[in-house]
Amino acid sequence: MAQIKRTHTCGELRKGDIGKVVHLAGWVQRRRDHGGLIFIDLRDRKGITQVVFNPEIDGTTHEKAHELRSEYVISVTGRVEARPDGTVNPNLPTGEVEVLINGLELLNTAKTPPFMIEDNTDVGEMTRLKYRYLDLRRPALQKILFMRHAIAKTVRRFLDDQGFVDVETPFLTKSTPEGARDYLVPSRVNPGSFFALPQSPQLFKQLLMVAGFERYYQIVKCFRDEDLRADRQPEFTQIDLEMSFIDREDIIALMEEMLATVMKAAKGIDIARPFPRLGYQEVMDRYGCDKPDTRFGLELNDVSELAKGSDFKVFTAAVEAGGQVKGFAAPGMAGLSRKELDDLTEEAKIYKAKGLAWIKVVDGGYESPIAKFFKPETIDAIAQKFGAKPGDLMIFVADNPKIVADALAHLRTHIAQRLGMIDESKYNFLWVTDFPLLEWDEEGRRWAAMHHPFTAPMDGDEALMDSDPSKARAKAYDIVLNGYEIGGGSIRIHRQDVQKKMFELLGISEEDARLKFGFLLDALEYGAPPHGGIAFGLDRITMILAGTDSIRDVIAFPKTQKATCLMSEAPSRVAPEQLLELQIAALAPVE
Ligand code: AMO
Ligand code: AMP
Repeated sequence: MAQIKRTHTCGELRKGDIGKVVHLAGWVQRRRDHGGLIFIDLRDRKGITQVVFNPEIDGTTHEKAHELRSEYVISVTGRVEARPDGTVNPNLPTGEVEVLINGLELLNTAKTPPFMIEDNTDVGEMTRLKYRYLDLRRPALQKILFMRHAIAKTVRRFLDDQGFVDVETPFLTKSTPEGARDYLVPSRVNPGSFFALPQSPQLFKQLLMVAGFERYYQIVKCFRDEDLRADRQPEFTQIDLEMSFIDREDIIALMEEMLATVMKAAKGIDIARPFPRLGYQEVMDRYGCDKPDTRFGLELNDVSELAKGSDFKVFTAAVEAGGQVKGFAAPGMAGLSRKELDDLTEEAKIYKAKGLAWIKVVDGGYESPIAKFFKPETIDAIAQKFGAKPGDLMIFVADNPKIVADALAHLRTHIAQRLGMIDESKYNFLWVTDFPLLEWDEEGRRWAAMHHPFTAPMDGDEALMDSDPSKARAKAYDIVLNGYEIGGGSIRIHRQDVQKKMFELLGISEEDARLKFGFLLDALEYGAPPHGGIAFGLDRITMILAGTDSIRDVIAFPKTQKATCLMSEAPSRVAPEQLLELQIAALAPVE
């Protein structure tokens, strides 16, 4: 085959190139025949340029061009010309020029693709994922992956400059407790034993601190077998780091600088520092969740005290049972119809609310089936607390604090989206700090680590681990961007006695702790320095900066919600011999 000559990219030809002889290579986006002339939109990863075959310039080449179809791969030679008057395409960066062709080589043919390689394709995601290599030809997806690369590159450069060392940690390892199920890998040479794929490099990065590296980072795959959502994948990528001889403020300041550098590189935006911070309790009180979108208000108000004095059984019963009545005013939504209010109630019920109470604020009064249960001055006081004006709709959920928080947090975003209150050009970072060290697991009737079992208590809160564990706070921090948790970390326990006490509190027996984390406990006895770190979800950061709401859009070869790859058809059955070798009993063959 002749050598492929390529002097320019399709997407980058401009007026200044007029008169040049260029060699291009790429894919046929489409072919149009027009009164003897053949026009091809030729596409490469930089964009599209129009190339023209004129029978009067080169008859043979023109003849060959007739055979070209969508997605054929070609290389062409020709001269860049200004497009004739009236044919300039202002929607195309290369729209002022075209290339008059006098040489064509067909490099490969292509079957008719199952969908057009265009950004505005309406083909279903299933088909796109099956033919992911074609889907990835679409400029929108390419742009996202280039952005992902730019983010990763910026992070590496920043951390390199700060003296961090990139160290790889094992994938075939022992389970790390991050709260999800492990993916297991059987060991052939140790029948009956399994490796776990890491849910994060947590323990290894701590061991690297014990080993004296002081500043570690890695952009690394993590594996979690959990229920998938729009922002969760079974394998995802963390920007993971750990530092020695630092405290919370050092990490927070450095990470703000890193994120600001990323925002500048990826979006050209200057982000104000320091980022806002809220304590866990405050964020829960005001937003009902620990990863609030702060691009809009609609903050929650607790009206339990006022509601207690009413005659509305739903409210009084909830408060008497130790629950709450909370809500907020939806601006300008007093006009909602009965049906629309019912739909809103259904939204609340998804999050286990038993109903949604509402009061419309109208000129000179209130409209609501429940108004009759309240003294007028009580409703006035509620309206004042909500900051409600005529035309607003006050909504309420009464239940235990968890249900109230979950339902209202959801309604907050639901209503903000519906009212177009979200400024998509904003990037609101928020640190959430002062998490409780532990949370009570009602089902298991035991304490569980809120972050993970290696998180240190706040200075001065160690004693609470004995006296009142519920009050002990953790040296943990999460970072939130536009309503997504994009990262989290903590200062770690670096003393063996404290780590042991933590395991005790979590109901992990000494024997069990030894079995699972013996190597960590041992390491802590050999001069572990004070240390801490953080991990960011690279996929989530890319997703937000790319302006998409599906994590699958930012991963080259993602899994479906059912954790399968439609292209390779993984996971799949394996041959009985493979199982035999691993000494795993074979399942009955699938029909
Ligand atoms: P954590 O479990 O909070 O912390 O994970 C850190 C960040 O990783 C992202 N993330 C995910 N992204 C996509 N799909 C998933 N299934 C998924 N799970 C988590 C989130 C999250 O904030 N070892 C600790 C960090 C530390 O303490 O240093 C850890 O893994 O953006
Ligand atoms: P009911 O007493 O069931 O007729 O309900 C009266 C109104 O209160 C309806 O609008 C219900 O949706 C609402 N409601 C019922 N339970 C709750 C609750 N737990 N919190 C808030 N509103 C509720």
